[in-house]
Amino acid sequence: MCGIVGYVGAKPALDVVVEGLARLEYRGYDSAGVAVLADGRLTTAKRAGKLVNLRNALEEEPPPAGTTGMGHTRWATHGPPNDRNAHPHTDCTGTVAVIHNGIIENFARLRAELEEAGHKLRSDTDTEAVAHLLEDELKRGGGLPDAMRRVCRRLEGAFTLVAVHTGDTDLVVGARRNSPLVVGLGKGENFLASDVAAFIAHTRDAIELGQDQVVELRPNGVVVTDFAGRPAEVKEYHVDWDVSAAEKGGYDYFMLKEIAEQPRAVADTLLGRIGTDGRLILDEMRMPDQELREVDKVIIVACGTANHAGLIAKYAIEHWAGLPCEVELAHEFRYRDPILNRSTLVIAISQSGETMDTLMAVRHAREQHAKVLGICNVNGSTLPRECDGVLYTHAGPEIAVASTKAFLTQLVAVYLIALYLAQVRGTKWGDEVFAMIQLLAQMPEKVDKVLETMEPVRELARSLAGERCVLFLGRHVGFPVALEGALKLKELAYMHAEGFAAGELKHGPIALIEEGLPVVVVVPPRARDVLHDKIVSNIQEIRARGARTIVIAEEGDTSVEPYADTLIAVPAVPTLLQPLVTTVPLQVFACELATAKGHDVDQPRNLAKSVTVE
Ligand code: AGP
Repeated sequence: MCGIVGYVGAKPALDVVVEGLARLEYRGYDSAGVAVLADGRLTTAKRAGKLVNLRNALEEEPPPAGTTGMGHTRWATHGPPNDRNAHPHTDCTGTVAVIHNGIIENFARLRAELEEAGHKLRSDTDTEAVAHLLEDELKRGGGLPDAMRRVCRRLEGAFTLVAVHTGDTDLVVGARRNSPLVVGLGKGENFLASDVAAFIAHTRDAIELGQDQVVELRPNGVVVTDFAGRPAEVKEYHVDWDVSAAEKGGYDYFMLKEIAEQPRAVADTLLGRIGTDGRLILDEMRMPDQELREVDKVIIVACGTANHAGLIAKYAIEHWAGLPCEVELAHEFRYRDPILNRSTLVIAISQSGETMDTLMAVRHAREQHAKVLGICNVNGSTLPRECDGVLYTHAGPEIAVASTKAFLTQLVAVYLIALYLAQVRGTKWGDEVFAMIQLLAQMPEKVDKVLETMEPVRELARSLAGERCVLFLGRHVGFPVALEGALKLKELAYMHAEGFAAGELKHGPIALIEEGLPVVVVVPPRARDVLHDKIVSNIQEIRARGARTIVIAEEGDTSVEPYADTLIAVPAVPTLLQPLVTTVPLQVFACELATAKGHDVDQPRNLAKSVTVE
């Protein structure tokens, strides 16, 4: 989604802003632009395509050096990605510039009113209307902050806006409804951005703006009000990521780095949550044990990879906590009239904490008086503020669009919650919970062990780069793993891939099997003998029809060897924890195959890291 950077201070604004936009490139975009205030004049530059196009334009025609400015990377929603529709947008007088992330749902009516009043709008965007609305409001007096507040009160939809005006060259004004906006607090300088990554090279002290707030940024001060102009409570926080953590660390791609970071990420997400007595300590969720004892149903809402984590959570919650658990795609959830009440626990899983589909599902659940627990990887993002409680994953910044370490840490988080529910509800004996927690604590080294044996998987991936389709099969928690493996291949290699429950094969999908078709099969531990034997039969069925079988099974499982064209062994772990080790080969497989096809695995086509519009 769109990236936003604003700056006011003593440094050359253009340098700070363009560097900030570069750190936000991972969010996915299709045009970029900047605005600078200097000598009382406003200069803008914007280009379709990647940031390099804008940098070239700025080199060819450098704007006057100013210390107040802003920049934007746009992911097109209204109007094609071209120079004309790129942000910033200006008013008729060329003295106001505005950038925007989100969707203004009533822009068509506003645009009609503006054109009726004689304004000349030049782009197809919803954003440009805001520049002209600000122009009119500035004529009414009160300066840019008041003008922004009055304009925001007329807008409907999701928007983060940042604007500058030649009438006050030491001021950047931001406004926020739904889409993310954070303030970076410097010394004699201040920053605005859609993500802290844009300014952590300068400061790691930040303020997360809340819903319907306006911020006035000056070199020596920040003022935050609501849309009515009343002072707003703000909470400062310290960003615990440093610049190096957001760099590639020597890998060719962020995704490779993030796959390699998974043992650490899993360990960090367990850190501090297992007491010296072996019991779980999750006070941070701010959900009293008695409230959790009164829960009679769990509903998980999430999208994409996070939804796959939810599907695995279902098995864990039902098995350990003895609670019925539904898993819903967040964008479907509120349209099916779900049955919710005060005894329902809704768990919202989101790496970014900004997925609009998931946020809207959470708002619906809150309206129905359900308790909402968030699982999120980004401190200060929107989701935690909209939940009754949050359990943060500690994966660190996940820059690559394809989620890897965030997924594994989401699994750890749902295992912790499921075991905690068992602990407080007494649905499992204390020693059973203790034993499982001890096994969970060993998972970082199990994941590390998998990573040490991935070279054959990379060779296999390169050998399949010319394939048109790969199928993925699994049973029990292996089924969501199959879905996740298919999603990784789709989003990285742009090839058809589909995950099935292996038991579904004979109900239709087996018709897809043909000579040489690669099929990845995730085999449950031998301890699950019934499930295990059934999936071995499935492997025989597809092999008999010519499939090229790629089998992921626990080390020492010799029963699958006769039917596996390729056998990938993973450490033996309990069934419910097996996704932590069986997912990793599928991540490596998809990443290597996409790389072999020459794709940019960090920024796959058409995709954004955080889908902040519905
Ligand atoms: C997964 O690789 C994708 N990047 C996508 O499916 C992602 O998991 C989904 O959009 C949810 O994002 P979130 O976890 O930030 O809410």
